[in-house]
Amino acid sequence: MSTDPPLPVVVLISGEGTNLQALIDAIQNDLANYAIVAVFSDRADARGLERARKAGIPAHHVDPSSYSSRETFDQALADAIYQYEPGLLVLAGFMRILSPGFVARFADRILNIHPSLLPKFKGLRTHQRALAAAETEHGATVHFVTAELDGGPAVIQYRIRVGETETEDSLSARVHQGEYIILPRAVGLFAEGRLRLESGRAILDGEALQAPARVNGE
Ligand code: GRF
Repeated sequence: MSTDPPLPVVVLISGEGTNLQALIDAIQNDLANYAIVAVFSDRADARGLERARKAGIPAHHVDPSSYSSRETFDQALADAIYQYEPGLLVLAGFMRILSPGFVARFADRILNIHPSLLPKFKGLRTHQRALAAAETEHGATVHFVTAELDGGPAVIQYRIRVGETETEDSLSARVHQGEYIILPRAVGLFAEGRLRLESGRAILDGEALQAPARVNGE
């Protein structure tokens, strides 16, 4: 770990927040070179808000139904996030599509965790779709966010073999375990200045990634 001041990170969630918890745990175990300065949710009942408060992190609900359009909501959300001057935004189970204007305001410094081996299975119900397609491999991807949904450059993938008796639930549980490895790792690399997005390409240790780094799971 470096002695530089920790990178200020804002995390966006919509639900359980177990990935947020993995990011918090890395800090509490003194393994992180980033600080989570605030958490935002579009849902008041997101359990991740409680996780944040328990860790002493300011946690905010921004209610989409108080805004007349996606753009005005995104603008209010971006304004609120800006107050914290984040060096990185992490989408950790944030279930709304962000408008191009929002993405542009935080250009090159938004990471997302997605539960599939992108570019396969963009969007929702990824585990169900992987099973229906009889995939032999599945997993999760951390990628930079660009205006294209789940389409920005991939950074790290966690890969598992799909078992013969696998269900959507078992697959979801196994993939989640891998997410807790790759998300803190990607955030840590970004915070160390080893990972960045440049001209639409993910750069790791000065080299453009030809393929995402790979973590093989069980
Ligand atoms: C994760 O599977 C993540 O990949 C997806 O939403 C889920 C969030 O889970 N984008 P949690 O809220 O972190 O528990």
